[in-house]
Amino acid sequence: MAFNLKRLGHDDVERCVAIYFAAFQNAHSIACWPRIPSVQAWWEKMIHDELEEPGAHWHKAVSPETDEIAGFCKWQEPKPGQTPDVDLPQWPEGADAMLCKETFGAWARMHKNLMGTRGHWYLEIVATHPDHQGKGVGTQLIRLGLDPADEQGAEAYLEASPDAVALYERLGFQEMGSTDTWIENERVKNTRYRNLFMIRPAKAKPKVV
Ligand SMILES: CC(C)(COP(=O)(O)OP(=O)(O)OC[C@H]1O[C@@H](n2cnc3c(N)ncnc32)[C@H](O)[C@@H]1OP(=O)(O)O)[C@@H](O)C(=O)NCCC(=O)NCCS
Repeated sequence: MAFNLKRLGHDDVERCVAIYFAAFQNAHSIACWPRIPSVQAWWEKMIHDELEEPGAHWHKAVSPETDEIAGFCKWQEPKPGQTPDVDLPQWPEGADAMLCKETFGAWARMHKNLMGTRGHWYLEIVATHPDHQGKGVGTQLIRLGLDPADEQGAEAYLEASPDAVALYERLGFQEMGSTDTWIENERVKNTRYRNLFMIRPAKAKPKVV
């Protein structure tokens, strides 16, 4: 079944944060983000703000049967000549601020080191509600950035949680690096978390003869 792809709007934000929390069940997400009102409000504000960001492509996949949002993504279009941002936000009350700073800081530096000033499509976030996973929603959402990348002959980049790596590889992404973090807090005990950094090479543009 194909899901309907639409632009994400401000009215969708609450549902998207609920999807995000339900979908991301890995040790890093659980450790960083307790599912409490202050963290939920921080995520909602962040998405509201970033909906207005120039070059941000937020989309939702909607079930044609129930009209329910099954998943969403944010693609950032290329910013040629600019290095990826390494500034970090103020973390919400209740989050594991040390772990957020360590991991999101390292991931941002990795993005900058791997891509430099090369313009690329950046998949900042993709999540499918567990009720709808394995039905092609993630693939449809990811293709929304890969199609223009292919038309433009541009690279694509993402940070991969371990569970999503097979899907990303199937779509042409290749591992270019990884970080290992030892997680220990009140929610997660003695767990190693590996995050991967993946690039999808540019497709050569067809020659016009
Ligand atoms: C990663 C994620 C976004 C994938 O979303 P999804 O909607 O399940 O993705 P798809 O259905 O397109 O693909 C998932 C699997 O189902 C398979 N699949 C795709 N369409 C299918 C269909 N119609 N029927 C059965 N299986 C299908 C795919 O081949 C894929 O298999 P693979 O993992 O072995 O490659 C989702 O699992 C998720 O939200 N995970 C938690 C958050 C997360 O890790 N996000 C990524 C951060 S880097």
